[in-house]
Amino acid sequence: MELQALKQKFIDIYGGSEEGIRVFSSPGRVNLIGEHTDYNGGYVFPAALTVYSTVIVRTRNDRNIGLAATDLPDRVCASLDELEKHKDLKWGNYQLGVADELQKAGYKLIGCDMLFNDTVPLGAGLSSSAAIEVVTALTLVALSNKANGTKKPIDMIEMALIGQKAENNYVGVNCGIMDQFASAMGKKDHAIFLDCKDLNYQLVPLKLDGYKIVIANTNKKRSLGESNYNERRSQCEAGLAILQKAFADAKCLGKITLAEFEKHGHLIEDEVIYNRVAHVIKEDDRVLASIKALEENDIKAFGKLMIASHNSLRDLYEVTGKELDTLVEEALKVEGVIGSRMTGAGFGGCTVSIVKEEKVEAFIKKVGENYVKAIGYEASFYVSDIGDGGCEKEAF
Ligand code: GLA
Repeated sequence: MELQALKQKFIDIYGGSEEGIRVFSSPGRVNLIGEHTDYNGGYVFPAALTVYSTVIVRTRNDRNIGLAATDLPDRVCASLDELEKHKDLKWGNYQLGVADELQKAGYKLIGCDMLFNDTVPLGAGLSSSAAIEVVTALTLVALSNKANGTKKPIDMIEMALIGQKAENNYVGVNCGIMDQFASAMGKKDHAIFLDCKDLNYQLVPLKLDGYKIVIANTNKKRSLGESNYNERRSQCEAGLAILQKAFADAKCLGKITLAEFEKHGHLIEDEVIYNRVAHVIKEDDRVLASIKALEENDIKAFGKLMIASHNSLRDLYEVTGKELDTLVEEALKVEGVIGSRMTGAGFGGCTVSIVKEEKVEAFIKKVGENYVKAIGYEASFYVSDIGDGGCEKEAF
């Protein structure tokens, strides 16, 4: 929807005029490599997409937050003084969770009406929830800063951390920081090389000369809350506890190198736990190798690392499934594809492939046809641009 139409929709719902309306947005993300490493203090390499959660907002004179969305009939009105009461909302708990976490962090929030317009495909592994969380945090803080006369720039890393807390405490997914960080800190035509141990990061220009990033959505319905995501996380914690016999100081798996794991990995007797840990430690190594490959303009080497990442997520971490595996297998059969892997948590969701520009159309046709044959319903495809992170929008 165009900005003007969104503003009109806002007025239709909440009344009044355009005066005082502001607009903020924050994007979804694709992770290029480094999967299930973030909550282990490892490396990730995501980039912000040009699909967004957008908020049209205006302050209110009371302490209520009004929530509405362009694609849902639900309406929520909640007092900033009673946010805990709304934990079980079917829709709106992300936003209210963020408001609650902001207040707990000391922010003096003010009431407002918000209309959400989401173009990040929901539940597809492209971080639709992180986009909502980050844009909510940014919006609420921007409004309260203005009301309180605070000139200090908004700390977007803190907004990402608040979004993650809301997801952990309200939605119940024990996610890492990658998605919210990418949504908050993305930069056009760059990927973010992020060390999740300490949130040190580097923006790496994505020079894909002649190649495109193509995202394929399995369209398999899933939600992380219902998935085995939290179970994977506990398995990693169990593996770390065992390895700490050899590395007492290692606070996370990201602190253990591949060479160290090769020497002491035998301490983990349970095969499943061993495999989970082996994935994380080797995946961390692949992220480092990917950054090096891109620095050397060796996009083919990067593609090979993506394939190795997928295979490890399939065989060791076991988070792919038939739909994601089919998309990757079919992608790799197409000429001009140099890498393909699942992206995000897995269990459905999307794959990301690096495809020669002139082969993109053939890729979508072939992979699409073969996916329907194997799975029985269609995949969706997006040729992605890499955009900026969360910010106030003056115009669209
Ligand atoms: C989800 C989580 C992230 C990360 C990925 C897997 O997207 O929200 O924190 O753990 O899965 O890499």
